[in-house]
Amino acid sequence: PEDVGILALEIYFPSQYVEQTDLEKYDGVEAGKYTVGLGQTKMGFCSDREDINSLCLTVVQRLLERNHVPYTSIGRLEVGTETIIDKSKAVKTVLMQLFEDSGNTDIEGIDTTNACYGGTASLFNAANWVESSSWDGRYALVVCGDLAVYASGSARPTGGAGAVAMLVGPNAPLALETGLRGTHMQHVYDFYKPDLSSEYPVVDGKLSILCYLTALDQCYAVYRKKIQAQWQKAGMDRPFTLDDFQHVVFHTPFCKLVQKSMARLLLNDFLSNPNLNTRNGIFQDLQPFRDYKLEDTYFDKDIEKAALKASQAVFNEKTKSSLFLATQNGNMYTPSMYGCLASVLARNSARQLAGSRIGAFSYGSGLASSLFSIQVSQDSAPGSPLDKLVSSLSDLPDRLDSRKKVKPEEFTEIMKLKEETHHLMNYVPQGAVEDLFPGTWYLDKIDEKYRRVYARC
Ligand code: ACO
Repeated sequence: PEDVGILALEIYFPSQYVEQTDLEKYDGVEAGKYTVGLGQTKMGFCSDREDINSLCLTVVQRLLERNHVPYTSIGRLEVGTETIIDKSKAVKTVLMQLFEDSGNTDIEGIDTTNACYGGTASLFNAANWVESSSWDGRYALVVCGDLAVYASGSARPTGGAGAVAMLVGPNAPLALETGLRGTHMQHVYDFYKPDLSSEYPVVDGKLSILCYLTALDQCYAVYRKKIQAQWQKAGMDRPFTLDDFQHVVFHTPFCKLVQKSMARLLLNDFLSNPNLNTRNGIFQDLQPFRDYKLEDTYFDKDIEKAALKASQAVFNEKTKSSLFLATQNGNMYTPSMYGCLASVLARNSARQLAGSRIGAFSYGSGLASSLFSIQVSQDSAPGSPLDKLVSSLSDLPDRLDSRKKVKPEEFTEIMKLKEETHHLMNYVPQGAVEDLFPGTWYLDKIDEKYRRVYARC
């Protein structure tokens, strides 16, 4: 099979949010800390009516219904998540309820976990399956979802929630480029969840940012090496630079970090070839730093400032549109980067996107990370797979605007209730069902054997 990749994509986010300016006041921090300092405007969150199973049920049903994909046509389904409510039973098995009426139980795949990276691991598995001798000709379905919640304190405004489902198969309008995955994996305690009775992670915020940027450098170096080797074989001998990506999407813990990541990639280009004159004069303000070593620059505010300035136009052109959802919903963990991909599709026309290469950086603490690339098909004609994919996401702005705004006091109450009731048995959730978007699956009750029962509104 050729051009294996993403054929259709669906996204789900909570129907309620808290305003970051309200949160700044409520938390008693300086105005601008969350909105300017972190680059976040709103944060989506779930009441106790939703959990990882319900988020994934909702997004899978939406994807299959809206794209008229029969349940019998799925041969593999896997879930990437770090929201663990059962140490043994996979979210995937809960999703099998949706397939019951079709009689299709012949579906490979289970859950994959490593912080925010599980969705990418699942996507790679799914694409590998389609390209393998095990493939039976049917679609693969990749689901990623999480409820990103932090204990009260400096990390709380970087929460969020949501789920993404992707249909994977051949002849895709978004094809994963073969042989072009730069991966970096390492043992580190930057963010982890050792306390199974709590939803919250143990997080070393500053260390996690250092790890994220180090992983980005490493992955970019490996990616460039691999693509340059491919080019060399084809008789083309030149360095790969950011110019070769028309769009770049990143795992987005908060939007400011993504702008810094774009600056970081430009700095990588510069330090590996300071004399390369891409985009006339783009490196000019970086020249004083030409003898620096990349690994010595992580905490250098002067370089960061200069690189942010030098990369501003590139950021606006290649990455800004990808942050449309992330700034308004927050970090979704595993679906974060795929929410950025959805935003690129929602904010650019099929014609603008046709033929472009999208760079994609996925990061999961602990840590696992990859930079890979997506080749967008050339055909953007009305009715083409690319046109259909882009059209299917055009309602994203309206859906975001139709959410309900909740005061920080109420948000905090809900977080407190969840802390107290998380993992109880014999529990009936208190969150309002009528606030959910139509068609949303929700948790109806947890019985005396911890079994969860879901219903759809
Ligand atoms: N106006 C404008 N900007 C401001 C203001 C203000 N009034 N006040 C502060 N800022 C800026 C700061 O200068 C800083 O920006 P800079 O880093 O560019 O200098 C930014 O706001 C954040 O302020 P800090 O004091 O650094 O924030 P704090 O230490 O309180 O927390 C952090 C930030 C570490 C990101 C925290 O929210 C966190 O731990 N988040 C979770 C971890 C995370 O997201 N890690 C990323 C990768 S791993 C993952 O995806 C989970």
